[in-house]
Amino acid sequence: MHRRFCFLFLLTFCSLLVLLIPALQSPEHHLDPPQPRPQNRSARPPHRGTSGETDQGATVRTQPLGLRPGDRLDLKDIFIAVKTTRKYHRSRLELLIQTWVSQAKEQTFIFTDGEDQELQGRTGTNIINTNCSAAHSRQALCCKMSVEYDRFIESHKKWFCHVDDDNYVILPGLRRLLSSYHHSQDVYLGRPSLDHPIQAADRVTGDGKVSVKFWFATGGAGFCISRGLALKMSPWASLGNFISTAEKIRLPDDCTIGFIIEALLDVPLTHSHLFHSHLENLQKLPVPTVLDQVTLSYGGYENRRNVVSLVGGFSLAEDPTRFKTVHCLLYPDTEWCPKSDPGAERKRNRHPAEPAASGARWKSSTKN
Ligand SMILES: *[C@@H]1O[C@H](CO)[C@@H](O)[C@H](O)[C@H]1NC(C)=O
Ligand SMILES: *[C@@H]1O[C@H](CO)[C@@H](O)[C@H](O)[C@H]1NC(C)=O
Repeated sequence: MHRRFCFLFLLTFCSLLVLLIPALQSPEHHLDPPQPRPQNRSARPPHRGTSGETDQGATVRTQPLGLRPGDRLDLKDIFIAVKTTRKYHRSRLELLIQTWVSQAKEQTFIFTDGEDQELQGRTGTNIINTNCSAAHSRQALCCKMSVEYDRFIESHKKWFCHVDDDNYVILPGLRRLLSSYHHSQDVYLGRPSLDHPIQAADRVTGDGKVSVKFWFATGGAGFCISRGLALKMSPWASLGNFISTAEKIRLPDDCTIGFIIEALLDVPLTHSHLFHSHLENLQKLPVPTVLDQVTLSYGGYENRRNVVSLVGGFSLAEDPTRFKTVHCLLYPDTEWCPKSDPGAERKRNRHPAEPAASGARWKSSTKN
């Protein structure tokens, strides 16, 4: 009798315990889920903190490739090449010089096809006359890329980034992205322009009977290459070799870069969606993420409304590309930026990722 009571008591106690265990454990489970650490070379930067709009926002918070804390990348370690042509010096280049280039004058180089002493003298920008043809032909574009490559190698900088004259480079975003990698490693970063690899006949290592498949980063969105990888490209890219490589495979400059890196050197493109060209629907970019990107662009004459959906200090008529608006959000102290009222400014700094919370001045809109 006594034993049976004991047994029943134990049974009840154990059942209670079994029922209680999940209840006791669950809060701990919710608080401490397993955190898989990213092991791949994901190009997504860590979420921007409250200091995200300043250069401190570039502090590395994920270190996928075993960087030591303190291995910070300086803006001056990045060589930024802007490809343009003489006829766009006024209509496109002046806007870049007025906005992002002004924050990175020493390391930005404009590669063009005509002299412009006046622009160079007035703005103090590095303008390089490549002496390449002004035609928008494959040969002319490859000629410029070839000069860009050689100038980068000479510069001894750690990263080569190429952009077009309709790109806004978000410098804190660029620095944050490149800080996640090491310049001595093989890194090729950019946005693929197609959703599948391109196929081309290999007339460089073969006779063209064998075709190769490779990804390439679209030049119109900008791309970056580490110094370590750029040096390996030398046999096919330096001192005019780039032009003959491009001629052999008969592809444009950005495809040729992809061909050398993916097909010849067997280094994969790291796909990043932080780079943007005018070929995308830029209005679709969510407003709170615009300042976290690496490059932006705007629609050409055929599509003037294809711009990022930021509304702010400048109307669409005053700032049709939205580059001035982006610039004033990143660098509000710029002399020509409209001065926002201190209350809205404070609010905005508390909620940097939520423009909607920052009052009417910087409200977001998806339809312009
Ligand atoms: C890295 O991993 C993330 C998440 O696991 C994935 O979404 C992403 O595509 C990966 N990137 C690369 C370059 O493999
Ligand atoms: C272009 O030509 C001028 C005059 O001949 C020369 O001084 C300059 O170095 C050339 N530029 C390049 C990039 O070769």
